[in-house]
Amino acid sequence: MCKVKELFSRILLFQQELITFISTFKIMSENILQLTDVAVFQGENLVLNDISLEIKKGEFVYLIGKTGSGKSSLMKTLYGDLPLREGSGNIVDFDLKTLREKDIPYLRRKLGVVFQDFKLLPDRNVNNNLLFVLKATGWKDTSLMTAKIEEVLDKVGMKTKGFKFPHELSGGEQQRIAIARALLNDPDLILADEPTGNLDPQTSVEIMKVLQDINQNGRTILMATHDYALILKYPSKTLKCDGNKVFEVVQRAI
Ligand SMILES: Nc1ncnc2c1ncn2[C@@H]1O[C@H](COP(=O)(O)OP(=O)(O)OP(=O)(O)O)[C@@H](O)[C@H]1O
Ligand SMILES: [Mg+2]
Repeated sequence: MCKVKELFSRILLFQQELITFISTFKIMSENILQLTDVAVFQGENLVLNDISLEIKKGEFVYLIGKTGSGKSSLMKTLYGDLPLREGSGNIVDFDLKTLREKDIPYLRRKLGVVFQDFKLLPDRNVNNNLLFVLKATGWKDTSLMTAKIEEVLDKVGMKTKGFKFPHELSGGEQQRIAIARALLNDPDLILADEPTGNLDPQTSVEIMKVLQDINQNGRTILMATHDYALILKYPSKTLKCDGNKVFEVVQRAI
């Protein structure tokens, strides 16, 4: 009798483990971004051509390439700043081809965008920078907003800096706030365009640790960078823009 019970509980345990495994696999295999035969233009100039790529939920992906190779143009296409004129694209369940002007704010809510130059509002403190974004994206409840601000500041190690103005913060601290701002609406994908471009090597590593931490907590990140030292230190899937194309490269070919 006892053996039957034991066998039964083992089967139950195995079943639970199988379910966990299948759901993890399902999350990892879900595409968060898919481009097929995409061309990117700046005005009439063709910047990138024939781009087909996909990013799956939970991945950390670098986007590298020489200056002028099209990294920012690709990012702009992804957050709706440049229209998708050729090919097809799907990002966080939005169809880039049929994206209308009025859809863009909703797309941006599902994306967290981080720039090289932080883009914080200089005339208000950190809390009010974050509050501004929450209000602009439809949040109303004051206590929920306060709690969310505290949560994102905590995630980037800036819990005590909410009262500071941007000019009272170092570059690295400003970038931490910009990352906190990108996290406010729990984005499915973070697009970071050279987030360490204005920072010294030590501060770059600190910002990278913040991004790695966020990725390990399940968020998907696409990061454009020039910083090969960082890529070597934190190896991950890498896409390269070169000669109007985007292709995956292996670490030693960088
Ligand atoms: N607003 C714009 N209007 C017209 N052409 C542009 C514009 N922005 C970029 N370009 C051109 O598009 C090409 C790709 O530029 P992009 O900014 O995407 O490159 P990048 O890889 O991000 O470079 P960097 O590493 O310097 O940031 C370049 O030839 C650039 O001159
Ligand atoms: Mg750029």
